[in-house]
Amino acid sequence: MRKIQFFDTSLRDGEQTPGVNFNTREKVQLALQLEKWGVDVIEAGFPIASEGDFEAVEAIAKAVTKMTVAGLARCQKKDIDRAYEALKQAVDPQIHVFLATSAVHREFKLHMTKEEVLASINTHVRYAREKFAKVQFSPEDATRTDKDFLLAAVQTAIDAGATIINVPDTVGYSNPTEYGELFAYLISHITSDEKITFSSHCHDDLGMATANALAAIENGADRVEGTINGIGERAGNTALEEVALALHIRKDFYQSDTSIKLDETKRTSDLIARLSGIAVPKNKAIVGGNAYAHESGIHQDGVLKNPETYEIITPQLVGIKTNSLPLGKLSGRHAFIDKMTQLGYQFEQNESDALFKRFKELADKKKQVTEQDLLALVADQGRGSDGYELDAVQLQYVSNGHQGAVVSIKKEQETFVASAIGSGSIQAIYNSIDQIFDQQPTLLNYEITALTSGEDAQAEVHVLIECSDSHEKISGIGLDFDVLQASAKAYVQASAALKNRGVLV
Ligand code: KIV
Ligand code: ZN
Repeated sequence: MRKIQFFDTSLRDGEQTPGVNFNTREKVQLALQLEKWGVDVIEAGFPIASEGDFEAVEAIAKAVTKMTVAGLARCQKKDIDRAYEALKQAVDPQIHVFLATSAVHREFKLHMTKEEVLASINTHVRYAREKFAKVQFSPEDATRTDKDFLLAAVQTAIDAGATIINVPDTVGYSNPTEYGELFAYLISHITSDEKITFSSHCHDDLGMATANALAAIENGADRVEGTINGIGERAGNTALEEVALALHIRKDFYQSDTSIKLDETKRTSDLIARLSGIAVPKNKAIVGGNAYAHESGIHQDGVLKNPETYEIITPQLVGIKTNSLPLGKLSGRHAFIDKMTQLGYQFEQNESDALFKRFKELADKKKQVTEQDLLALVADQGRGSDGYELDAVQLQYVSNGHQGAVVSIKKEQETFVASAIGSGSIQAIYNSIDQIFDQQPTLLNYEITALTSGEDAQAEVHVLIECSDSHEKISGIGLDFDVLQASAKAYVQASAALKNRGVLV
């Protein structure tokens, strides 16, 4: 069986989703979960892009022990140097150098001739190979590049020392037949003394990203790039969980193996959804809430008689557990730590104290604390609000349908209090928080979901706000037993991140 390598770019291409900003702590948390899921290579970021990106790539390089850690670089020496600095402590570092090759990119974006593009690839891939044993080259917008020139660009990169060639369908323009043929063409026409790994990188503008990636695999690609839940620029990237399951369920057809631990799939997807603030649509393949629900009577009847009638994937295969033992208010520290260990977490004493305290508060209000609740608590604790903490919210009916809110927020020893009115409770709370942060962002999105079923479910609120000056979009998540508290927490988190960015700019 062939082995297909998984290259996850959720933290780089995925972070290019509007409104998605992972902080370093979250990125490390995600990287460790991706490692558990079995990813071969993680693209940790674009080190030259910002101090934050550099810091995150360096932190992931230090934290990860099994995966190859990659950093992105343009064809510029300063980018390659920065990537080298960020990755030098990685167990297995890799650089990912890219340069656009299509006519539209060359003429309008780069203002470079074909000869200049080839010369730049030669210089920079050669320079990268002096510093890295593993060099990946991507001809950006490959699928809209003239085939002969694409081959020349790829051959130049190979001659200069690249051993991994990634073929990006940057704007999601290709289709499975064409994309597959492109791999067959490149693979049969390149020459090299070293083994060259071909990799697919697809965007989902026409809804073909997963199909295109699978077509590349059928035609010789040994590596697939993508993101969890398909997050990314515009319509997003290939959803890696879809490729993993397609390769597994249709092993008869693809004849391929991967290192993916399928039963960590749902947990990985949940963590990305939570920290990115991009909820998974109910009908999303593999990880959507309805992916294993059978509604029609005929289907239910069939599944009861034999699940195989309508179910090609079992929820258990992707890690959806229906019979796990929940904790309750009588559960002690030992049971709590035990459960966390089963879930794969180990904490420092102070972290476990803080989580145990939150678990107890929750267990006092909720009959059964499920795995979903615990995972949400861990993610919430990890995300933080840059030191700001919601202290109290008080609401009062004013008149003419208006609500008044008083909000108090703490940061270290300081307490900030403000009050405002609004035409509803949430608006009054958000107006008060705006006063505290001296901001007037636009609320682009507000979503609320119940974490589990039942009347005593915790509420998870996702908000997306846009800065009035920079138009930067920032997301926030709030988790609480009380809907209004959860709403306030989500808004405080996004506001704190916005304030923090303002200071950095
Ligand atoms: O889509 C794309 O072309 C990219 C490159 C940087 C590989 O993300
Ligand atoms: Zn991309």
